[in-house]
Amino acid sequence: MTYDFKIAAADKATLYRDLASALESLISGEPDPIANMANASALIFETLPDVNWVGFYRNVGGELIVGPFQGRPACIRIPFGSGVCGAAAATRQVQRIEDVHAFPGHIACDSASNSEIVVPLIRDGDLIGVLDIDSPKTGRFSEEDESGVVKLGEILSRIL
Ligand code: SME
Repeated sequence: MTYDFKIAAADKATLYRDLASALESLISGEPDPIANMANASALIFETLPDVNWVGFYRNVGGELIVGPFQGRPACIRIPFGSGVCGAAAATRQVQRIEDVHAFPGHIACDSASNSEIVVPLIRDGDLIGVLDIDSPKTGRFSEEDESGVVKLGEILSRIL
């Protein structure tokens, strides 16, 4: 297979549809979660415009620990309930934050980040971790982005 996906869509719906199908083919048949998280973060980082951090925090015994990602080195451990990722883990709800500086307890890992979306990854009722995407642009993530990223999360939850 080729790993050169070259996704360039004019509209977001097509972009996320192509991204979801590239993700499916990239991870299908591979059971290793680290390999899949590494490739998924690289694919999403390369495909979405205006993002500066894409990666995973894993639920390890009720604490979030950073997993494979693309971007600047990030904080390693985040308690449930802390910051945007911790809120997603504690509530199991998507956090789509227009301006992270206005979010109480936001953890600034990269000072370039201004908006963020975090999707909880749940399988069989268990929280596996979260997918976190940061942008230097305020208000980068629309409702359309949210539904696209949620679909990526559903694909990932099945295999991580
Ligand atoms: N800003 C996040 C921390 C993780 S980094 O953005 C990579 C938060 O508040 O949860």
